[in-house]
Amino acid sequence: MKRVCVHGLGYIGLPTALLLADHNFTVTGVDTDENVVRSVNMARLHIVEKGLDDLLKSAISNKKLIAQTSPSYAEIHIICVPTPITMKDDSFKSDLRYVEAAIRNIATVYQDGDLVIVESTVSIGATDKMEKLLKALTPNVNKVEIVYCPERVLPGNLLYELKNNDRIIGGKELNTLNLAKAFYSVFVIGQIHTTNVKTAELSKLAENAYRDVNIAFANELSLICEEAGIDAYELINLINQHPRVNVLQPGIGVGGHCIAVDPWFIVEHDQRNAQIIKLARNRNLDKTNFILEKIYQKIETFTSIQDKSPIVGFLGLSYKPDIDDLRESPAVFIVREVQKKSGAVYVSDPNVSSSEEFQILSVDDLIAKCDLIFGLVAHREFKRIAKSGQFSNLSFVDFCGIKENSLNNIPNIDNNKNEASS
Ligand SMILES: NC(=O)c1ccc[n+]([C@@H]2O[C@H](COP(=O)([O-])OP(=O)(O)OC[C@H]3O[C@@H](n4cnc5c(N)ncnc54)[C@H](O)[C@@H]3O)[C@@H](O)[C@H]2O)c1
Repeated sequence: MKRVCVHGLGYIGLPTALLLADHNFTVTGVDTDENVVRSVNMARLHIVEKGLDDLLKSAISNKKLIAQTSPSYAEIHIICVPTPITMKDDSFKSDLRYVEAAIRNIATVYQDGDLVIVESTVSIGATDKMEKLLKALTPNVNKVEIVYCPERVLPGNLLYELKNNDRIIGGKELNTLNLAKAFYSVFVIGQIHTTNVKTAELSKLAENAYRDVNIAFANELSLICEEAGIDAYELINLINQHPRVNVLQPGIGVGGHCIAVDPWFIVEHDQRNAQIIKLARNRNLDKTNFILEKIYQKIETFTSIQDKSPIVGFLGLSYKPDIDDLRESPAVFIVREVQKKSGAVYVSDPNVSSSEEFQILSVDDLIAKCDLIFGLVAHREFKRIAKSGQFSNLSFVDFCGIKENSLNNIPNIDNNKNEASS
């Protein structure tokens, strides 16, 4: 069986490496973070994701996976490194330096006929740039084979989606595309679609921009409702009875590594045409600032009525319900800002047991301690507590639908297309 090098052992790279090891590939996992390398080799998970634990233990004990800080020779390289955005000249730009670093690493072992697959989300044209870089770094190689194959998995359900989701592969030549298709066919049950590189690059960005625009619509509607004194949840429930309308639930903003980031890659590429996409991104950022202002108002009102500052508590930190991922989380932003302005606050999140930045309490302790409680993330556990009526007599302000429709409205992690917060 072929040797595969997976570059980047995070939320995408590690499950991919484990799935490959489980399908009898010999896998080298490369990560620049020595702690990640150490923990993988000790068969200890550094990310929370169901189903990975057993796969990691067996991959390490069967010697199908080894982690290193530099690559070994492999016929196939998969790049799963971060692609963040950075603010430059007043707008967000994609930062490809980690992908470039991975290409430089690959160049040290690359031979004719080896396949490089970019899975990291990249801007339009980035795969071509990487091809040129790899060619320049390997002058003795006749031809480099590179394709782009984006990931569209849902954290919390990664293993299932890695196998079952359809994949889109973008490549320049039929031979290279066939090589990549044959590779993915070994472990992907979903359909594999092939296209050119730019279409594949934009497909990933467009999927996330589509979600962002739909969330922005729900969030904008919630602001209109607020102004008009209308219950947004009731309104959305009613209009969703229309056979061709499916408005998402409003939230406190958009978080996570994809939806809050990827639309900027399109805006960066085409400022002139990406009007709705840019507006939606800013609209979702506005919603978080709007919630923050509401919180400040509530604190002020409490202070003037009670003649003392309230002890403030928050329910939820992660970027969406029922996961532990805090990346780009609007809840983290809100709690951090309130903490900066008002001093220590308390937080409860069933999936976050400790934090260097925030004081974490159990829900019961938070209820007992706090004068004002703000609901930021509608975790199942909070919804259950709301159903039992525990929040009803408190100064509880629900910004995320914890009290709405009670348990009937709990998003299903396996099918959460209706969530507004990514
Ligand atoms: N997390 C998701 O749900 C998701 C979904 C679809 C696509 N993506 C995309 O996949 C890519 C990876 O995302 P992630 O969530 O796995 O990121 P992550 O931050 O969880 O993991 C990335 C890993 O890469 C390592 N790394 C950085 N530079 C490296 C290099 N030069 N060589 C080897 N390792 C290096 C980091 O130490 C880290 O462990 C990103 O482009 C992201 O946008 C992520």
